[in-house]
Amino acid sequence: MTDSPLRIDDRGAIRVVTVDRPDKLNALNSATLDALHAAADAASTDPDVRVLVLTGAGSKAFVAGADIAEMSGLSPAQGRDFALRGQRMMRRFERLPKPVIAMVNGFALGGGLELAMCCHLRIAADTARLGQPEINLGLIPGFGGTQRLLRLAGRAAALELCLTGAPIDAVRSLQLGIVNRVVPAAELEAETMKLASQLAGAAPLALRGILDCIQVGGEAGIEEGLEYEAAQFGLVFSTDDMREGTSAFLDKRKPVFGGR
Ligand code: COA
Repeated sequence: MTDSPLRIDDRGAIRVVTVDRPDKLNALNSATLDALHAAADAASTDPDVRVLVLTGAGSKAFVAGADIAEMSGLSPAQGRDFALRGQRMMRRFERLPKPVIAMVNGFALGGGLELAMCCHLRIAADTARLGQPEINLGLIPGFGGTQRLLRLAGRAAALELCLTGAPIDAVRSLQLGIVNRVVPAAELEAETMKLASQLAGAAPLALRGILDCIQVGGEAGIEEGLEYEAAQFGLVFSTDDMREGTSAFLDKRKPVFGGR
């Protein structure tokens, strides 16, 4: 598997998926899109994986975009298929029933920012630069960038980033709500693993309920969203973890969640 575009590394219940094309700044070609889709499928159904971390190899880039060399030769129909391939993969991560954290270790441009935005949480190194530079290539974002940036950071920020193509630094990304946290580059991995460990110790079915509610609610009206939340709230009362969590509180001990 030496030519795989991904590295997959299990650290207890945390699976770290690294896009591993550092000589191309981890650009997303078709093979990488497909490998990421397969990694999302595998993590989704593996009960031993409770949290996923996505990152890029090397210290320079998270992912510097879709592969420009591959895109340059595409026909319109192939361009549409390439966009759908990326969109489907990113939707798979977004709808994963367990938390996905983007560890943004450098450039997150174009498809890289799109990949980070389909994750549930984003931690960026203070050296990271984020942007949607497709306009500079005569292109537009095609892996969900216009849609997720709009929803994540609002219309003004989405228009500014996509129309100008200019990258922004990590601190501005934090101000715009594009990333959750910015940490010194040297502490990025430790801080990400700390957050991942915290989530790995939480009740998996309750985490799943929260992910579902926030995803469904973000794509529905308030009445439907509230109704969905109440239904999910009811559902967690069927779990052993809910009994464990509430009795551990009453017994003044630390809960142990088994995911049942
Ligand atoms: N697709 C394909 N290859 C890419 C790439 C991409 N999105 N981004 C970087 N690379 C490749 C470069 O072509 C170069 O390959 P080479 O050594 O075979 O020539 C290698 O990665 C290193 O990139 P380089 O441009 O030399 O690094 P840099 O430090 O000078 O610049 C960036 C870094 C990120 C500013 C620059 O690579 C860049 O602008 N990349 C494209 C970003 C982009 O437009 N993304 C959206 C694509 S839709």
